[in-house]
Amino acid sequence: MNLFRSLCGMLLSLCLALPASAAELPRIVSKNGRHALYVDGAPFLILGGQAHNSSNYPGMLPEVWPTIHAIHANTLEIPVAWEQIEPVEGKFDFSWVDALIPQARENHVRLVLLWFGTWKNTGPAYAPEWVKADSKRFPHMLTKDGKQHYVHTPLGRNTLEADKRAFVALMRHIREIDPDHTVIMVQPENEVGSYGLDRDYSPEANRLFAAPIPTELARRTGKSGTWTQAFGKTAARNFTAWYLARYIDEIAAAGQAELNLPMYVNAALSDAFNDAGGNSGPDWAVIDIWKAAAPHIAIEAPDIYERNSTAVNAYMDHYARPDNPLFIPETGNDLGFARFFWLALGKGAIGWSPFGMDPTYSNFPLGGLNTPENLEAVSSKFALMAPIAQEWARLAYDHPTVGFAKGQDVSDQSAILGRWKITAQYGLWEFGGRDAPPNPNKDRPVGGAAVIGLGPDEFLLAGSDVRLAFSETAPAPDGGGRFMVVEEGTFQNGRWLMKRRWNGDQVDHGINLTKPTLLKVRFGISR
Ligand code: DGJ
Repeated sequence: MNLFRSLCGMLLSLCLALPASAAELPRIVSKNGRHALYVDGAPFLILGGQAHNSSNYPGMLPEVWPTIHAIHANTLEIPVAWEQIEPVEGKFDFSWVDALIPQARENHVRLVLLWFGTWKNTGPAYAPEWVKADSKRFPHMLTKDGKQHYVHTPLGRNTLEADKRAFVALMRHIREIDPDHTVIMVQPENEVGSYGLDRDYSPEANRLFAAPIPTELARRTGKSGTWTQAFGKTAARNFTAWYLARYIDEIAAAGQAELNLPMYVNAALSDAFNDAGGNSGPDWAVIDIWKAAAPHIAIEAPDIYERNSTAVNAYMDHYARPDNPLFIPETGNDLGFARFFWLALGKGAIGWSPFGMDPTYSNFPLGGLNTPENLEAVSSKFALMAPIAQEWARLAYDHPTVGFAKGQDVSDQSAILGRWKITAQYGLWEFGGRDAPPNPNKDRPVGGAAVIGLGPDEFLLAGSDVRLAFSETAPAPDGGGRFMVVEEGTFQNGRWLMKRRWNGDQVDHGINLTKPTLLKVRFGISR
C-alpha cells in the first residue's frame, strides 16, 4: 500500500512537473548571422497588425478581427495593460486575455502581447491607479534640483516588484489557458526611456553613477571606471539604458520562469545617422548596453515611423545584427510605409507589423488614415506572403537575402548576391526603357523587392512596383549567364507550385513585378 501510494505520488509529481502543453514553445534560433522565429517547431514569418492603444478590451475585438483578416495578417499585436489585470492590488482579473486568446485561436491568428506596465512610451499611463497615485512607494526619477520627473525610476525596487508580480501572474495564467501557444511572443513594457531628463538624479542614482560601471558591462565593452570615465558625454544616457534594461530583464526572466516565450523590447528611434542625441530605450546607439544588461530579451526592435527610405534602410541595418534578429513591431500603416515590408524581408526580418490596423482610431499624420488605398498597400503584400510565410521564413533562414525599397531620388539600387548583381529600378512600365512616357508610379512611394539566393544561380523573388535586372559580377568562364527558367508560382505543402513560366515580353524588359508577385528564377550558362 505504501509502495502504491508513493508510486502514485511520484507519478503525480511527474505530471505536475511536465509543462501544461504538448505544443512546442515558440523560440528564436540563429545560425550564420541569420535568425528565425520558430512556432510549432517550424520557422514563422510574422505578418502582423498592431491594434490601437485602447483596443485591449473584449468589446473592441469585433472591430479588430475583420481588419486583421482583410489584411491577411497571421499575427495580432495587442496590449495587456497592468491597470486592467490588477486594478486592485493583489486581485487579478484576466477576463481580457480569457476573451482574447480563444478568439485569436478561432480566427487562426497568433498573438504578440504588449505588456503596458511601469512604462508605456516612457510614462506610467497604463499602471494601475494605486501605482500612479503613490509616488512615495513607487518613486519617479528626480531632476538635478530634486523635482519629480514624470518617468518612474528604474531604481524603484517596489515598482519593479509590483510590476514583476503582475507580469508573472499574467504569464502563469497564459501558460494555463494557452497550451497551443497562440501567444508567440511578449513585449515587456513599451518604448521605454526618458524624455527631457538624461538620468535619475536621486541620491541613490548619484551614488550608482559615481561608482564603477557594472562588471558585466565592463566585460562586454572593455571599458572601466565610473560611468563618466567609461562613457564620457554619453554616460548619463548609457546609465539610464543599463538600469532600464536590468529592470525589464528581471521582469522578463521572472515571466519566462512561468512560460518561456521569446521576449523583445521596442524602441522609439532617434536620428538614424547621429548617435549623439537620443533616448535611453533600446535605441540603436545603445543596443550594446541593452544586450549586456538584458540577456532574457531576445530582440531589441525598432518602431519605424520614418518615411525617408535612406533613414529606414539605416535603421534596419542598425538592428539586423548577428546577435539581434530584425523585427519591426511597429511601423506606419499607410502607402508610404508599405514598400519597406520588402526591404525588411530582404534584410532577413522575422516579422513586420504596421501599427493601428483596426479602424477604431487613426494616428495620422504619424501613420495613415483608414483608407482603402492604405489598407490595400498592406493587404496585397500579405495576401501574397501569407500562404507561403512558413516557407519564406525557412528559406530566408537557410539562405542569404537582399532587399530593396524605392528611394526619394527614384534611382536604381543594386545589391550583390553570390556572383550576381541585382538591380532594382522604379517608375518604369512593364515594357520598354526610360525613354517611354513617364509612369505615374514614378512619383508615388511604392516599389520594392526581397530576394532569396536559393543557390549560386537560383533566386526566389517577391516584390511589387519594381523592375529587377540581373547581371553577373564576374562572367562564368564558359559563357554568359542567361535566364533558363522564370516561374511564377507559390509554395504548397513545402513544394514549389508553378502557375506559369514567364517568357517573351515578360522577361525581355527585365523582370517587372507590378502587383505583388512571387517568382523563382534560375540562370544557366549559354555556350
Ligand atoms: C509608438 C507607441 O509604441 C505606440 O503604442 C503608439 O503610441 C504609437 N507610437 C503612436 O501611434
